[in-house]
Amino acid sequence: MPASTPHDSWAEAYDLACDEEFGELLGRITAATLGLVADLLPKPGAIVDFGAGTGRLAIPLAAAGHAVVAVEPSAAMLDVLAAKAGPRGPCRVACRMQDYRGEARFDLALCAFGVLSYVTTCDGLDAALAAARASLAPGGRILLDLPRAMLFASRRCETARILREVDLEPLGAGLFAYCERIELRDPSHVPSLRRYEDRFKIRAWSRGDLDRAAERVGLVVETDVSDRVPGSGADWLLLAPHDGISALPPRGSR
Ligand SMILES: C[S@@+](CC[C@H](N)C(=O)[O-])C[C@H]1O[C@@H](n2cnc3c(N)ncnc32)[C@H](O)[C@@H]1O
Repeated sequence: MPASTPHDSWAEAYDLACDEEFGELLGRITAATLGLVADLLPKPGAIVDFGAGTGRLAIPLAAAGHAVVAVEPSAAMLDVLAAKAGPRGPCRVACRMQDYRGEARFDLALCAFGVLSYVTTCDGLDAALAAARASLAPGGRILLDLPRAMLFASRRCETARILREVDLEPLGAGLFAYCERIELRDPSHVPSLRRYEDRFKIRAWSRGDLDRAAERVGLVVETDVSDRVPGSGADWLLLAPHDGISALPPRGSR
């Protein structure tokens, strides 16, 4: 894992920053995503949430009875998830999506809220999708979102509780230098820290990029379900192995 993992420095402030900036819209997006998952998996199943963050989706899905594994490279984000979820929450795995090699197989692999943008190379995108494919049980599918180009713009949010500034500097070929600065104005939230800064690169993947990577690793976009998550500014796609065989044979039998 790189020395400085994105989100580590401001994990404690992540939920507050998202709530302050996106407010009710985020609540609606969360409810819509959980509703979509409920339609895809009407009975409790096995779900892997790649880039689970602080558990916005993983925690309610575990509470709904699914067996959930939260895969997340930021140990600090996972710590926040664990503190919120308590002992009955999702299992946690600290690693990047593209490095995930778990033995368990899942009915649904989730990759939501821009997680693929943190993967910045074509090889990385292939590896991330291949890892998701390899994690699927027979009949399993991948639900992911692809933020649209308009979301890759600098923005500023000022409320009574925070000042959040996100700068995105285009570097060409869909790459951006991302700089996040947060000032907490309400010391009761995280008393120990008042200012956070984080810098990393992100990439705006087009639908064509995604389709080509999916094809390279044996996946196909089965359905565009964007209309199920209105207002998110992203395309929501359901992918499946194109040969209908989701899981690789267990290790040892290959
Ligand atoms: C915008 S947050 C979304 C969190 C969560 N999926 C949600 O819906 O609330 C993106 C998350 O992806 C994680 N991430 C960054 N690089 C990743 C990678 N290579 N593989 C998996 N997750 C990654 C970040 O640490 C962060 O927690």
